[in-house]
Amino acid sequence: MMKVIILLLLFIFPYSIVRAEDGSKLWLRYVSVSKDVAHNRSISIHSKDPIILLAKQELVNFWGKQSIELAVDRKLTYLKDGFKITGNLNRIKVIAHEPVGLLYAAYHLLQLQATNQPVSNLNIEEIPSFDIRILNHWDNLDRTVERGYAGYSLWKWDELPGVISPRYEEYARANASIGINAVVINNVNASPQILSSQYVIKLKSLADIFRRYGIKVYLSVNFSSPKILGGTKDSDPLNPEVILWWKNKVKEIYQVIPDFGGFLVKANSEGQPGPQDYGRTHADGANMLADALKAYHGVIMWRAFVYNPSSEDRAKQAYQEFVPLDGAFRDNVIIQIKNGPIDFQPREPFNPLFGALQKSNEMVEFQITQEYLGFANHLAYLAPLFKETLDSDTYADGKGSTVAKLTDGTLRPARKTAIAAVANIGEDINWTGHHFGQANWFAFGRLAWNHELSSEQIAEEWISMTFSTDNKFIDPVKKMMMGSRETVVNYMMPLGLHHIFAFDHHYGPEPWGDQEGGRPDWMPWYYHHADTVGLGFDRTSNGSNAISQYRPPIQEVFGDIQLCPDQYLLWFHHVPWSYTMKSGRSMWDELCYKYDAGVQQVRAMQQVWDRLEGQVDQQRFVEVQSKLKIQSRDAVWWKDACLLYFQTFSKKPIPYDIERPVHELEDLKKIKLMIKHHN
Ligand code: GCU
Repeated sequence: MMKVIILLLLFIFPYSIVRAEDGSKLWLRYVSVSKDVAHNRSISIHSKDPIILLAKQELVNFWGKQSIELAVDRKLTYLKDGFKITGNLNRIKVIAHEPVGLLYAAYHLLQLQATNQPVSNLNIEEIPSFDIRILNHWDNLDRTVERGYAGYSLWKWDELPGVISPRYEEYARANASIGINAVVINNVNASPQILSSQYVIKLKSLADIFRRYGIKVYLSVNFSSPKILGGTKDSDPLNPEVILWWKNKVKEIYQVIPDFGGFLVKANSEGQPGPQDYGRTHADGANMLADALKAYHGVIMWRAFVYNPSSEDRAKQAYQEFVPLDGAFRDNVIIQIKNGPIDFQPREPFNPLFGALQKSNEMVEFQITQEYLGFANHLAYLAPLFKETLDSDTYADGKGSTVAKLTDGTLRPARKTAIAAVANIGEDINWTGHHFGQANWFAFGRLAWNHELSSEQIAEEWISMTFSTDNKFIDPVKKMMMGSRETVVNYMMPLGLHHIFAFDHHYGPEPWGDQEGGRPDWMPWYYHHADTVGLGFDRTSNGSNAISQYRPPIQEVFGDIQLCPDQYLLWFHHVPWSYTMKSGRSMWDELCYKYDAGVQQVRAMQQVWDRLEGQVDQQRFVEVQSKLKIQSRDAVWWKDACLLYFQTFSKKPIPYDIERPVHELEDLKKIKLMIKHHN
């Protein structure tokens, strides 16, 4: 019976359309070459290095064009782990400084082939923008994933090291194909258990697989590990017993994993332990660990995401905490700074800490997982968000001091430069929950490799490798992706609004939110300040004065209500409802139009996608289509919730030419989603 149905389906639909397509292959859809093709070209290099052999094997399997000669030249240090590709129709020559450079070159060539780029006349030189291109997994040892929306963690700790899931290697290959060379395996809210000898052995089995793809493993560590795991009296970073415990632990790790990368630390933040528990500073804590790692060339990524419930504006606290410590950190410490000063909102101005530290290494932390952008239900292509931060001019070392140039070694030479992002990867068959979530993993890797790539180019690469090389498909999908993040900003938090999410899980709107006894800095009212006068957080000198943390030219722009770009207006100013915006509309009307635009834009995304039916396999078509329906409903929910709530303060009508609310505010206030947040 089944056979008959399949035959029937094959008759009705062409083969490519009925073939099951679950997204598990990501952007890695290289086609194996035939024996004939393989016979007519050679892929040559003599080496026993496992990475080089892998690079060669990928080309042997999938390269369908001319012959390729691979070589490592140890003199070409300027290439770092990049590569050079030159050649004509007959022969291609690939040179790298490190074996892994040949692997990256192999994937580069396969990408050119997969995206139908000419390969008859090549002259390419690629040197990665950052040395360490790292994913941060917020995966717990019980396999729940903090802020993860793609199922359980990939890491099956109970089975390791005995059972090796084939997905470990698939994951490593996907990362290597876009240049990612490091992973923090566990949640920043770290369990001390990860440092137990038992887990170090488990970790080794992952490290052994990842190493073949040029990927180093790192761990998030809990600052109280010596006390909890080692039975020391405390975890004071100046206590010799504690220092010794870490030294021995680091030695143990390197004995098992000789190329271990280092530690990521969330200390004295959101209830995590840290050096301040003992009256010590972040520098005391970071340096103690840095000293333990130094001999092994290990790195400490010390997070600047620290804030406490106090009368001080949360947006100012990381800067206040870290600037006085500038110069006190060891050179193998990198301060890991979230892109914005609050917390991965749909839009934030850049974090003023970038460039404010003159003598300390800095790196950016992005969030790929969509904690604040509709989880894995909403399509939001994040390359434009990443680029917005990287291209922001801080003026720290004069004009042109972009966040990218401050962190990639251009303006501030560093032992090692780095860039991180919180992964959106889980056990789901398509890895990221939403098929388009894969694009954000891809985009982070590509930008970490080369932050000068445009969002458009990255989108185009991803679409053509993942879905179709047909321009009739690429063009509309690219356009849809390019506008998608701004669309989310419009229907969630336009004009610089931020953090008006439902409590704790952060899915959906709750601008009215108020948790009895809850921390004020976790409440929406703390951020939007709606009252009868207006809306927005006054961060000028009349308010919290957070603008003082920016350099003069930026400070003047952000601090002046007339000059401040609309997109940051309510971030920096408490603006009267009737204030006349650049568009000539009142602030209230502008807000209404923005929310409405967001809704209309999602509808337009649905139309774009629906028109493409038949140009994409049915499974992914339907899955994306149904997510867009959710997104469309959520956009209306956001618009109604925010406008009806803010209207209780503005007391003004919603402009009559936009779509009317379809919900009652009181009904929306009753929505309480039972989504667990695991940490
Ligand atoms: C956010 C997020 C937490 C996470 C924290 C962090 O606040 O909601 O789940 O632990 O960021 O980055 O440490």
